[in-house]
Amino acid sequence: MQDGSIGSVRIEAGARMKSRAIPVAPFVLTVFGATGDLARRKLLPALFRRDFAGQLPDAATIFGVARGPMPRDEFLAMVRSAILEHVPESKTTGPELDRFLARLDYVAADAEGENGWTDLAAALSKYAERIQVHYLATAPHLFGPICERLGRYGLAKGDSRIVIEKPIGKDVESAVRLNQTVGKIFPEERVYRIDHYLGKETVQNLMALRFANALFEPLWNAAHIDHVQITVAESIGVEERGAYYDESGALRDMVQNHLLQLLCLVAMEPPYSLEAAAVRDEKLKVLKSLERIDETNAAVLTVPGQYRAGACNGIAVPGYTDEIANRQSTTETFVALKVAVANWRWTGVPFYLRTGKRLQQRSSEIVVTFRKVPHSIFNSESGKALQTRLVIRLQPDEGIKLWLMIKEPGPGGMRLQYTPLDMSFAEAFDVSVPDAYERLLMDVVRGNATLFMRRDEVEAAWCWIDPIRQAWSQMNEPPRPYVAGSWGPSAAVALIERDGRTWAEDGP
Ligand code: BG6
Repeated sequence: MQDGSIGSVRIEAGARMKSRAIPVAPFVLTVFGATGDLARRKLLPALFRRDFAGQLPDAATIFGVARGPMPRDEFLAMVRSAILEHVPESKTTGPELDRFLARLDYVAADAEGENGWTDLAAALSKYAERIQVHYLATAPHLFGPICERLGRYGLAKGDSRIVIEKPIGKDVESAVRLNQTVGKIFPEERVYRIDHYLGKETVQNLMALRFANALFEPLWNAAHIDHVQITVAESIGVEERGAYYDESGALRDMVQNHLLQLLCLVAMEPPYSLEAAAVRDEKLKVLKSLERIDETNAAVLTVPGQYRAGACNGIAVPGYTDEIANRQSTTETFVALKVAVANWRWTGVPFYLRTGKRLQQRSSEIVVTFRKVPHSIFNSESGKALQTRLVIRLQPDEGIKLWLMIKEPGPGGMRLQYTPLDMSFAEAFDVSVPDAYERLLMDVVRGNATLFMRRDEVEAAWCWIDPIRQAWSQMNEPPRPYVAGSWGPSAAVALIERDGRTWAEDGP
């Protein structure tokens, strides 16, 4: 809790909430790219955690698939070390880790050749009665070849599902092509496009907050909301992914997917139910309502940036072009945007978006600032009434804060103080916040596509992003420099300050 807060929302010991793990149906999951970074860092640890929580049934089998032959023991040793690295020790010292490893096997198959596919088909045929899930944790250029072979070797039948992850294209044409290729083998209702931001607890809580409380929805519109800010700040640089990132940049890597999905959840109309089609229809309408940014207005509404050498968390770090060893690169590692949602609910309410690498701290949040009170009854001694602000914090310290004006306690007259009503999820719940992949993987097995992106959403997002990229290349200006460890280029501050507003840090 921070100084001056009204207090964490207190939940009595007996009433502290626990999460419940309801076992999913028997399944067999193939992870293509099983020796790669995503599988090692995210997928296998997430599956282990779900097993630890009791959510995997006895009949749950996982096949790792990659090109190189590897004895099963060697694969298990790799998975064991990945889990030891990424899961806290309290979960890995008991018998659960061996129980999980016993579910695993390995098959070598060549995504672009025919080697190994009959072996894979034979191995999977033993589980024909189970739900089959294929997770493509591979480079995106392999999505097409793998899908095609899954079809050819009889592995796309029944209600088998395929999971793919961004980048889904690099512009609208390539996204359409990829979706068509996948769509030839798997019908849309069996394609699960992951945006791992949708699996984050607080993101789902945004839906609970909006649609399970009568308090907010009547105020959730231009009459009562002044503006919305969405920040996804990272302190890391491009790490090992320089080659991918330099082709992509922050707009494609983060805005096209994660930030636009967050914007959709804030801005969408209440869906008629939580069913996938209902939620996705509403998100699609938001994407289609975004006012176009192109060469006529990009200079005013967007700020691309690129980090120079500086210090993050007290450690000196090189600039982007040194990190990727391409001094000429004009790829943006930061972007700030002022976005308008052109519909009845949101006209006149700007959505300010910003994301970047090597910023001062890792911090992602959605901040909804309500309008000023129409008339103040307080005098100058009481202090100014600041605008009510709802902060939905994605990471770290997931939680929700509602910043309100209260009277400073004590007999010293009426003095106003801006203070948060603070609910930290870690304090309120008896469980650690699960990783997004845990929830999403179980949803695929359950056949629940609500938190996945439909084809038309992905394509609509690209349709909005592409003109911004085109405008930038026409403007032919390098991205604005910023010092690593700062909050981005000063032009991003100017973007919002021109409107008489400031980027919200955690506090008044
Ligand atoms: C990925 C991006 O989708 O999301 C990365 O490709 C980024 O560049 C990452 O670092 C951020 O995810 P998270 O969950 O750490 O906020």
